[in-house]
Amino acid sequence: MAILITNIKGLLQVRDTHIDKLSGAEMAALPSLQNAWLLIEADTITGFGTMDNCPAVADAEVIDASGKTVLPTWCDSHTHLVYSGNREQEFVDRINGLSYEEIANRGGGILNSANRLNETSEDELYEQSRKRLEEVMKLGTGAIEIKSGYGLTVEGELKMLRVIKRLRENYPVAVKATFLGAHAFPKEYKENHTGYIDLIVNEMLPAIASEGLAEYIDAFCETGYFSVEETERIMEAGKQYGLEAKIHVNQFTAIEGIAACVKHEALSVDHLEIVTDEDIEALKGTRTMPVALPTCSFFISIPYTPARQMLNAGLPLALATDYNPGTTPSGNMNLVVATACIKMKMTPEEAINAATINGAYAMGLSETHGSITIGKKASIIITKPLNSYYELPYAFGSNLIDSVIIGGKKV
Ligand code: NIG
Ligand code: FE
Repeated sequence: MAILITNIKGLLQVRDTHIDKLSGAEMAALPSLQNAWLLIEADTITGFGTMDNCPAVADAEVIDASGKTVLPTWCDSHTHLVYSGNREQEFVDRINGLSYEEIANRGGGILNSANRLNETSEDELYEQSRKRLEEVMKLGTGAIEIKSGYGLTVEGELKMLRVIKRLRENYPVAVKATFLGAHAFPKEYKENHTGYIDLIVNEMLPAIASEGLAEYIDAFCETGYFSVEETERIMEAGKQYGLEAKIHVNQFTAIEGIAACVKHEALSVDHLEIVTDEDIEALKGTRTMPVALPTCSFFISIPYTPARQMLNAGLPLALATDYNPGTTPSGNMNLVVATACIKMKMTPEEAINAATINGAYAMGLSETHGSITIGKKASIIITKPLNSYYELPYAFGSNLIDSVIIGGKKV
């Protein structure tokens, strides 16, 4: 059945023609219609306009959105939503003075999550993960990228990716899978980096490719994790199997990883809490989308991605959650948008563009997601009555979502 939404106070992110992504000053504009209607048929947006020419649609369910704002669902292009158990003890350890690095060095962090994951059955992992996915769908996320990377064994990585596949099959949300075998070196490979990367390249990747379990490849390119050279080897191996790169880089240190990612035509470079002038130069005029994760900065008290500097240099920027048990135990994109405005001085228009159309680009979904455009997926957020959309980041602690429709289905 069709759904006709009428009397919409503000219909945001309306794009008549296809755009891939927005860069620099383009991000300041958020095209919108006042007093609007939106038509959904099956899983697709089939029309919109202003109420002076609202169509009569036979058999449509009519939703009166008086006073409410409608916008495309959030596109969260970076998450680790499939994981086992929590790490709240490490959270308290950090409150008591330990750093993220110190916790990792004594066997906590990613290796802690990997131990738990390898002890968890695939069904139990699915059960834990689907609850998180259901929660973020209610918070307005309609497209999501999910990484592996807490297995660090052939079986563990496959188990995570199979869970991601099941989530994709069972929910209307668009799901993209990224293979992150290169998340950390398991203890037994601490002194044998080549041995672990051989395992990734010669065993994990072929198995993943033969089951068609991933679209993207990732590595944690960082001091103490994967070097730039090691990351390049991972990107090259991924390319052999048709996996584009989306790389964790510049979270704690700038080691010229961004230039290497650009050279390998990575789709995105993510984190970027520490950015040099050379990094900005390397990104200019390329296909690589920088992705900022402000609630990670918030949670582990590290710098925020210098959004203003990057936008002033003409770069695009996407926003994502980084939802994971260590550095960001939250998949709330509304909080990400608010934090970007409050802490990174992005305007509401820039932040909403970064969390919709640019997020879609960063996971290869800008053809189908990220804007109100005829032919795109009918994935929308209907807010509670708002004075203006500025209230979304302003009232950062309130849930302002009235309802969510994903792929034409009410959540
Ligand atoms: O994106 N930085 C690398 N990976 C994750 C954190 C992983 C963890 O602590 O479990 C991140 O922040
Ligand atoms: Fe991450």
